[in-house]
Amino acid sequence: MHAIDDVVGGPALAQVRELRTPIPGPRSTEMLARKREAVADGVGITLPVFVDAAGGGIVRDIDGNSLIDLGSGIAVTSVGNAHPGVVAASAEQLGRFTHTAFTITGYEGYVAVCEALNRITPGDHAKRSALFNSGAEAVENAIKIARAATGRSTVVAFDHAYHGRTNLTMALTAKSMPYKRGFGPFAGDVHRAPMSYPFRDGRTGEEAARIAIERIERQVELDEIAAVIIEPIQGEGGFVVPADGFLPALADWAASHGIVFIADEIQTGFARTGEMFASTHFGIVPDLIVTAKGIAGGLPLSAVTGRAELMNAAHAGGLGGTYGGNPVACAAALASIAAFEDGLVERAREIGDIIRERLEALRATDPRVGDVRGHGAMMALELVDPVTGQPEAALTARAAAAAHAAGVIVLTCGTDGNVIRLLPPLSIGDDLLREGLDVLGDAIARG
Ligand SMILES: Cc1ncc(COP(=O)(O)O)c(C=O)c1O
Repeated sequence: MHAIDDVVGGPALAQVRELRTPIPGPRSTEMLARKREAVADGVGITLPVFVDAAGGGIVRDIDGNSLIDLGSGIAVTSVGNAHPGVVAASAEQLGRFTHTAFTITGYEGYVAVCEALNRITPGDHAKRSALFNSGAEAVENAIKIARAATGRSTVVAFDHAYHGRTNLTMALTAKSMPYKRGFGPFAGDVHRAPMSYPFRDGRTGEEAARIAIERIERQVELDEIAAVIIEPIQGEGGFVVPADGFLPALADWAASHGIVFIADEIQTGFARTGEMFASTHFGIVPDLIVTAKGIAGGLPLSAVTGRAELMNAAHAGGLGGTYGGNPVACAAALASIAAFEDGLVERAREIGDIIRERLEALRATDPRVGDVRGHGAMMALELVDPVTGQPEAALTARAAAAAHAAGVIVLTCGTDGNVIRLLPPLSIGDDLLREGLDVLGDAIARG
């Protein structure tokens, strides 16, 4: 199709940042014009290049530019893009059968993924799992399960939360633009509580939990609450790491009132934070845990896993969907989980150490870097005005754009748009990671 020497993705892709054209190059620019004519405007593209191959820590575009990947397609390709084990397992499954609808005729892969999830998620109680397609769909199903199990309807979500773009998950999500504006009315029976945000509130976890619980108890009767849902480390909301003690206090309070505690580990799960699941950092064992993203190396799959008695509360036929737990996605998930268990949790910690060192050095010299936070390969910095402490969204956007122009994929996040988040694939090499961080450091310095 076009003249690029090596046309192989995965780890075989040369692990070097190289810009052959400005970003976007002529071929990507042509594709952007086609996109404008064919794709709905509501579907945006952050970094306007079109991809030819990806693997290791590199994404190569159709102009032959090799970019350092510090985003993993929003925390999805944790195992590495086009990971050989994932590719082989998926290809083998593709050659046997592509679909049956598990709820019509079963297949082993679905059961094996549920067995693996029951084994690797926190807690040694009896568990069951159910598989879906997207993160939002799994969140919706976790709420359905909690409602069926408790006979209650109300759900509590938190400030800065992001749970997806379907109707119920928009209601759970905190931020209006771009996720909610113009798309209401939203699902009812959702209440919001303040999140522990140590950089901004300076509170201990226990204090923040007390305030959150007081707020909830003023809004709604306790015996009407089916579930609280929370990201152990918030993703889109700004990589907010709650103060120690916050999540255990909430979980204890939920347990004492028969409220189902749901951890949304869609962004934090599968080795990303240097534990298989981020709940472990905080010493909590959620009743239900929602996963997606990193689970299947880039193929669409999501899951709800949890206490057997809760998971089994929904009647037969109440959970499912045509594609949920697609056999190819299940094969990819089994290969991914094998890779996560084969050293990638430790690798996430090493990556976290490298990133933290670099970001802390930035903070030491630049007062606009207000906070450095995260765990493992899920790290962020929050940019603020050093005098007023106000969020610096414009600087954040300029720094991200400069990094993109220099061939480094970084993502921003945060309710105020002033957080740069780093989510490299766990397959990235140390040198490439350090180079990407240097480029980001220069971009912020020049911003
Ligand atoms: C914590 C969290 N929950 C839910 C979702 C929604 O997942 P999906 O985009 O697969 O529907 C996301 C996606 O970014 C997420 O980060």
